[in-house]
Amino acid sequence: MFITIEGVEGTGKTTLGKRLHTYLQAQGHQVLASREPGGTPVGDRLRALFLDQTLNMHALTEVLVVNAARAELLQTLIKPALERGTLVLCDRYIDATYAYQGYGRGIELTLLRTACELATGGLEPDLTLLLDLDVRQGLARQGLATPDRIEREGLEFHERVRQGYLALARDSARFRVIDAAQTPDAVFAEVVAHVNAAL
Ligand code: TMP
Repeated sequence: MFITIEGVEGTGKTTLGKRLHTYLQAQGHQVLASREPGGTPVGDRLRALFLDQTLNMHALTEVLVVNAARAELLQTLIKPALERGTLVLCDRYIDATYAYQGYGRGIELTLLRTACELATGGLEPDLTLLLDLDVRQGLARQGLATPDRIEREGLEFHERVRQGYLALARDSARFRVIDAAQTPDAVFAEVVAHVNAAL
């Protein structure tokens, strides 16, 4: 089972992922938890490059950099883990590319699908937990003293990303949309219910 967690900035994805990881392990599952971009030594270097706020990066370069990190993570960690029956939990995956580089930056989705397929061999998650939140609320939660290259984008960009995620969720049965404005405990309870139903 391959589970991904997605959402705009400041939805509490990372905290939720850690809590879910602990919960699943306590249930007796072997779990590999990772994140994108990153999750491998090569991926972490690419992540630093990708988020570097001193750089400007063309949208197509963004697509290739995140997919380079993705190929490394998929081929070296995620695929082998799934093959040995380990449950994989990933903080962001292909839908982040569709939402940020597609809906956010305006790159055609068909082109993005080709790039993601090259990196992943077409591997789709079984379940995608989309934490949905008002973008102002999310950015405020982040407390952006030093925003990274993506966080520093304007509200309109982040709003396109949010609407993009919601559009993706409407088109695909593997998505569950969760209201991230609820308390962390309420969000977690909803997530656990979705995960247990899928398992
Ligand atoms: P994080 O802050 O959730 O760890 O994600 C890093 C940033 O990278 C976040 O702003 C979203 C962005 N991103 C993309 O733009 N495209 C992608 O494909 C991925 C995986 C992340």
